Amino acid sequence: MDMSSVSPSITTMIRMDHSHVMAAFHRYHAETSWWRKRAIVGLACTALEIHAQLEEEIFYPALGVAMAGDDRLEKSKPEHDKMREDIAKLRSIGPEDASYDARFMQLMREVMHHVADEETVLLPTAERALASQLGELGKRMAKRRMQLVAESRPAAIAASTVGTFPLASFALMSIGALALAHCLRPASGRRRYRT
Ligand SMILES: [Fe+2]
Ligand SMILES: [Fe+2]
Repeated sequence: MDMSSVSPSITTMIRMDHSHVMAAFHRYHAETSWWRKRAIVGLACTALEIHAQLEEEIFYPALGVAMAGDDRLEKSKPEHDKMREDIAKLRSIGPEDASYDARFMQLMREVMHHVADEETVLLPTAERALASQLGELGKRMAKRRMQLVAESRPAAIAASTVGTFPLASFALMSIGALALAHCLRPASGRRRYRT
């Protein structure tokens, strides 16, 4: 399947990913049932990991020329690493753990801060400095995303979607709906989110 002919620019794609993750965050409340919490966290974390890897492989290096030596770009990778540590901690405990809510809220705050910096500084800079390359970079990101989604624990994603159907239809878009549907079909036979 070739999605490259329909892929948006890289900055549009990054903004879409951000808003899908924010939508997942807003579904999480202290009183949410434990199974739903686990599903929301599982889906949000997988989407975040894929998004961070795509930025590090494609977006940040492209921006490196325009923002060489700029702290606002250089702090991005360490912020992703911190996010990955927090995700690993969350995965190692369950929603029944007393610190689960606090840890997820902390992750949400960090991600929101990081996203705000990207949207106010990095994306506008890319749109000025890399204007002629945004489409091509978007194609590369779409292609790489499909590979990462195929590699990224499809079983974990399937388990997450069971309890979060309305959320899943959002989040799946951000991690490659077509690729994901392709991954899940043989295992689950579930077709309800292919609207
Ligand atoms: Fe980022
Ligand atoms: Fe981002």
